Amino acid sequence: MASPGGRDRVLIKSCVIGWPISHSRSPLIHGYWLKQLGIDGSYTRQPVEPSALAGFIRGLSDAGYAGCNVTLPHKEDAFRLILPADASTERLGAVNTIYLRDGRVFGTNTDGEGFINSLMDSQPGLSLKNSRAVVLGAGGASIAIVNVLLEQGVSEVAIANRTRAKAQLLRDQFGSRVMPVDWDTAADHLSECSLLVNTTSLGMKGQADLVIDLSRLPIDAVVTDIVYTPLRTKLLMDAAQRGHGVVEGLGMLLHQAVRGFSLWFGEIPRVNPDLYDLVARDIDPAYAR
Ligand SMILES: NC(=O)c1ccc[n+]([C@@H]2O[C@H](COP(=O)([O-])OP(=O)(O)OC[C@H]3O[C@@H](n4cnc5c(N)ncnc54)[C@H](OP(=O)(O)O)[C@@H]3O)[C@@H](O)[C@H]2O)c1
Repeated sequence: MASPGGRDRVLIKSCVIGWPISHSRSPLIHGYWLKQLGIDGSYTRQPVEPSALAGFIRGLSDAGYAGCNVTLPHKEDAFRLILPADASTERLGAVNTIYLRDGRVFGTNTDGEGFINSLMDSQPGLSLKNSRAVVLGAGGASIAIVNVLLEQGVSEVAIANRTRAKAQLLRDQFGSRVMPVDWDTAADHLSECSLLVNTTSLGMKGQADLVIDLSRLPIDAVVTDIVYTPLRTKLLMDAAQRGHGVVEGLGMLLHQAVRGFSLWFGEIPRVNPDLYDLVARDIDPAYAR
């Protein structure tokens, strides 16, 4: 395409694929950074049904894409269609970010770094090395979070999941630092715990609240919820009322987007309060900092 100045204009394209995809807030995030950094790029939502996934990924280059984000229900299926970019991604067996290099299609998973960077951004004094964590849930997001907590040197991660067998699978995968516990005994494991993470969908808009007795949780422990609709779940409100440091799930959503942006558009964007406010207002129009 010719620009007004006569030079060829190179528009870098990326998108998010999922089925359905209309709910995705990724275009808001990447659109903010493209504008802020003055990059000639686009980031769109592309509905891709499961039967069309392989064709879409194979056709990324011909369609002019530098890559894409991948969301539900494609994260595991997409993994089988890409070259894993790193050992973490290989362990997780799921990708949320795809990019092209030298004609090859690579995939990576940025959920773990999104989680940890959000946590450290919000709680800079938190030290995880040799600490204990309790993780509620053993679904797709939990695997990435358990992986990154172990990478950070956490000595023990107790995982309470409604379906205990799925917590046991994480133990089988990650080894003896992971301790599966019964869902209804989760509160018994909170003493000596430095970090409590909700990775279940409980507390999400339209779902029941997560109910857990926090009375045994040391007061200097941090509580984080990866659910971000609502911005502040009942778990976080209860924890804040007890005086715990709390970390909202929206931070993870913003931080997980950073690496994809830099892989496609060539600049490392920053998660700043303006971006947080922009997306928070999209989730809750009544939001005020
Ligand atoms: N902030 C972010 O960037 C971010 C990123 C990814 C996901 N998320 C959010 O995290 C949540 C989980 O996502 P996911 O992809 O991991 O989902 P998933 O793979 O479907 O896992 C869902 C988890 O929630 C548990 N669960 C669901 N209903 C429950 C109930 N009634 N009682 C107890 N446990 C219940 C499931 O337990 P069972 O195994 O027993 O079914 C499972 O552990 C969603 O709300 C999602 O929006 C946020």
